[in-house]
Amino acid sequence: MSLKRKILELQMKREKALQGGGEKAIEKQVAMGKMTARERIITLLDENSFHEYDLFVEHEARDFGMDGKILHGDGVITGTGTIYGAPVCIYAQDFTVAGGSLGLMHARKITKIMDHAMKMRVPIIGINDSGGARIQEGVNSLAGYGEIFYRNTMASGVIPQISVILGPCAGGAVYSPALTDFVFVVENISKMFITGPEVIKTVLGEEISMEDLGGARVHSEITGNAHFFAESEIECFDQIKKLITYIPWNNGQKARPFEPKEPLSNKYKIDEIVPGNPKEPYDVRDVIRAITDGSEFFEIMELWARNIVIGFGRMNGETIGFVANQPMYLAGVLDVDSSDKAARFIRYCDAFQIPIVTLVDLPGYLPGVDQEHAGVIRHGAKLLYAYSEANVPKMTVILRKAYGGGYIAMNSRHLNADFVFAWPGAEIAVMGPEGAANIIFRKEITEAKDPEKMRKQKVKEYKEKFANPYVAAAKGYVDSVIVPRETRKFLLHGIEVSKNKVDRKPIKKHGIPPF
Ligand code: HXC
Repeated sequence: MSLKRKILELQMKREKALQGGGEKAIEKQVAMGKMTARERIITLLDENSFHEYDLFVEHEARDFGMDGKILHGDGVITGTGTIYGAPVCIYAQDFTVAGGSLGLMHARKITKIMDHAMKMRVPIIGINDSGGARIQEGVNSLAGYGEIFYRNTMASGVIPQISVILGPCAGGAVYSPALTDFVFVVENISKMFITGPEVIKTVLGEEISMEDLGGARVHSEITGNAHFFAESEIECFDQIKKLITYIPWNNGQKARPFEPKEPLSNKYKIDEIVPGNPKEPYDVRDVIRAITDGSEFFEIMELWARNIVIGFGRMNGETIGFVANQPMYLAGVLDVDSSDKAARFIRYCDAFQIPIVTLVDLPGYLPGVDQEHAGVIRHGAKLLYAYSEANVPKMTVILRKAYGGGYIAMNSRHLNADFVFAWPGAEIAVMGPEGAANIIFRKEITEAKDPEKMRKQKVKEYKEKFANPYVAAAKGYVDSVIVPRETRKFLLHGIEVSKNKVDRKPIKKHGIPPF
């Protein structure tokens, strides 16, 4: 056969393989409002940057009628490409081919591209759209999943791992995304659950739709399994692209620097954002925007545990991880979910050399039977662990209230913060003045002629003595009491002088965090 004919033959083979599951299956996919797997990859990556591998991989299953079946690419597309010029490895399950189900060769394609990402030290992006373990392949599909989970764990903290849920993601399939760093979901398209509605009906007799059980909103607002919620696939891809600009390719590098920009100080007037009354709410994201380059803030997990805010911004062109109590929700208290949310993010920043800025304004940990029984001790301890363990530059600004365990947990000097600043309105105390006065002056108050007057007087006394930043500053627990408009200057300087920070941890195999 001449080379010309061989080239023609290759083209024909390619064309066939590129048809995926065929016209009908593609029509069904489109009717569900979904892009095809290849369209997804091409839309997400830089134009013409996608290079596909293993297009001709074939399954080896012989049981249950599989011997006669051709599954193009074995239901998954893998390759490499770039996003804003940054190299990435990627795979997308093709639901049009056997429901994107995961057989042995399908899994091998995924693990091969994951191994490649690890060798090349670049991010791995997985687009999930699959009916789960390929039932006909039995234990081989389970083996495939296990081999993916193992690699997810080995890659954790070495390269960024991004999961995109764009279809069903059932059974063990959800555990690969759960082991990765960021999970993206899209309204009406993403579904994640361990056991589906059918099993729940059979075992428990409860009826629930797939959407109500494990739709995008459920995982963004209730379970905290998803980090980014979008209303369309296009919006989701824009979010991924944006994320890629903030994170480094691997743990040996810093995120790419950007051109420094000043914040929009006319829009975000930092001296006027935080109300003087400690009970009055405000949006802490305005404080973040008042200090970041261009007032840009890329929030993560925006819809879950909203009493704490996490996300990326830039200062002097460098990516910074922000953790901030949000007085707009539950007065910014720490609870089971917010501790979990912040602790994981702190560990992400620490693993990928991203300095952390913490903004503090909280009344403490949330009291209540629900919280105690939900394990607030264990979950709250995650935050203490994560801050103590992190040795990237860590800076704190106490904006207003910093009471009790909340003061300690929010990157206090005592957990080895590098710099702690406080605004003049900061109140650093074991608890709020009202609660404190009621306890320590109970006798004087109850025995007074006018208990209410006495209570007010004692609250005032306590406030004057303790509810300010100067007691902590006198002990060196706060490095500087600063006016709000000095915050960016102090933080920028803190980042600058921390460039060569050395803070070695004791030699150990690994710690045992309160998972
Ligand atoms: C083999 C599968 C499959 C699977 C779907 N298909 N799931 N083939 N193994 N797991 C095939 C269907 O037979 C069908 O093939 C095609 O994919 C499209 O599926 P439909 O059912 O027609 O699509 P739809 O109506 O949209 O429903 C999608 C679905 C449903 C909700 C995902 O297919 C479904 O419930 N699948 C099974 C889900 C599941 O229980 N998976 C196993 C989980 S256990 P044809 O040829 O007709 O087009 C698991 C264990 C892993 O994953 C543990 C690891 C630790």
